[in-house]
Amino acid sequence: MPFKNLQEVIKTLESKKQLVEIKESVSPNLEMTEITDRVVKNNGPALLFKNPKDFSFPVLTNLYGSFDRIQAIFDIRELDDLGKGFTRFLEIAPPKGWVEKLKLLPKLKEVTNIFPKSVKHAPCQEVINTENPDLTTLPVLTCWPEDGGPFITLPVVITHHPKTGKRNLGMYRMQVYDKTTAGLHWHIHKDGADHYRESSHTEPFPVAVALGPDPITTYCATAPLPDGLDEILLSGFLRQKPVEMVKCITCDLEVPAESQFVLEGYVTRGELRTEGPFGDHTGYYSPADKYPVFHLTAVTHRQNPIYPATLVGYPPMEDQWLGKVTERLFLPLIKQQMPEIVDMNLPVEGCFHNLCFVSIQKRYPGHAHKVMQAIWGLGQMMFSKMIFIFDKDVDVQDISQVLFHLGGNVDPGRDITMVKGPVDALDHASTLPHVGSKMGVDCTAKWPTEGYDRGWPELLKMSPDVVQKIDKIWSNLGL
Ligand SMILES: Cc1cc2nc3c(=O)[nH]c(=O)nc-3n(C[C@H](O)[C@H](O)[C@H](O)COP(=O)(O)O)c2cc1C
Repeated sequence: MPFKNLQEVIKTLESKKQLVEIKESVSPNLEMTEITDRVVKNNGPALLFKNPKDFSFPVLTNLYGSFDRIQAIFDIRELDDLGKGFTRFLEIAPPKGWVEKLKLLPKLKEVTNIFPKSVKHAPCQEVINTENPDLTTLPVLTCWPEDGGPFITLPVVITHHPKTGKRNLGMYRMQVYDKTTAGLHWHIHKDGADHYRESSHTEPFPVAVALGPDPITTYCATAPLPDGLDEILLSGFLRQKPVEMVKCITCDLEVPAESQFVLEGYVTRGELRTEGPFGDHTGYYSPADKYPVFHLTAVTHRQNPIYPATLVGYPPMEDQWLGKVTERLFLPLIKQQMPEIVDMNLPVEGCFHNLCFVSIQKRYPGHAHKVMQAIWGLGQMMFSKMIFIFDKDVDVQDISQVLFHLGGNVDPGRDITMVKGPVDALDHASTLPHVGSKMGVDCTAKWPTEGYDRGWPELLKMSPDVVQKIDKIWSNLGL
């Protein structure tokens, strides 16, 4: 059974000794970062700060920060279990024509689970404040010393496309400016920003922010689903249980009923304010820039809510696990488009978009180049700054093998391709923000048909009969 809410998760993690309650008074201003950072780097437990200094709501950090907890949250044994049903999900939940498809599949339980369920009464509305809603009552973390202020770091931001009406959930951090305003940091490439661009100049554009719905729904806000596909459907699919949704009080949006807090409000097109700097996933501060201003119209919450937060920074951090969930969830989909792909690794040190190691079953000359070009054309994989393509026998999860073949097999002048295009908004190396260059490296063995006539050498390997013989006498050798 999926976790219904954070209260259930906390109970379970406590019983498995994967959560530690901190009773000491700790400030959300930098101190929670220092504690959480040390714990994350040691693969430690989730942390529940019971007494945040100057605030009354407890703070939960590092919920996703270990493989054990990912197993518990997603109810899986291996990360690859995640991807098993995913292509099926896309078959039954495409952006167009799925009503027709549903008619064909009325008996499938998985389909009914996908749909969210509307409810009239919700825990997240046990307390409603429309009179005097105040962001500064939340124990929002100031994560790093040069941060522009406190940032909400695990927000599930919900909008509807102004023209198509399609819903989007995205995780875009929010800088709290004062009681009723915050910066909304959706990068220009993301769906939330797209909705905003399409919104009217004159009408307020409704935005709802769920803090701490069930943990799978929070993950889903980070998932790079194809445009127009509602992340709530993915959550229903992964949870194998519908997500319960309730109507907001002050805007025409629905939010997950089990959320801890809900921030209701709006943005107005063209109203921008400086957001940042912020100590980011890249391990560097991302510089201040202009982003839309979120205006708060209501805060609703549970009777005893928990404020969820994550800390990003120099890897490894908690978000490594969210990234790995995405890598393994989406791999079957990528393989569906490119069956020649054997495996893929976006290493944590590469902050996910900087480095991409891929092994392929090479079938024709130039094949490695075809794969890198195709990856640059795939949704948010377009941000892959450096792609390295290897032959099928290279285990791309093993960095030692990756470096060995990268070093040995590459003639830089011949095997490196440079392209120009969009780069991740957090990339600080590109001369301009959002656009720059990307590199693809063909680390496969080169063929005569690729112009290599010297005869590619064979990798060293002992003859199997000798291996067998030595195996037999090994125990006698005193080694
Ligand atoms: C902890 C965390 C924080 C994130 N913060 C941001 C952010 O501030 N802005 C942004 O554009 N993407 C951010 N992302 C990445 C997006 O959530 C991700 O690209 C997601 O797919 C966006 O949803 P969309 O495809 O519906 O736009 C963050 C991801 C994580 C895990």
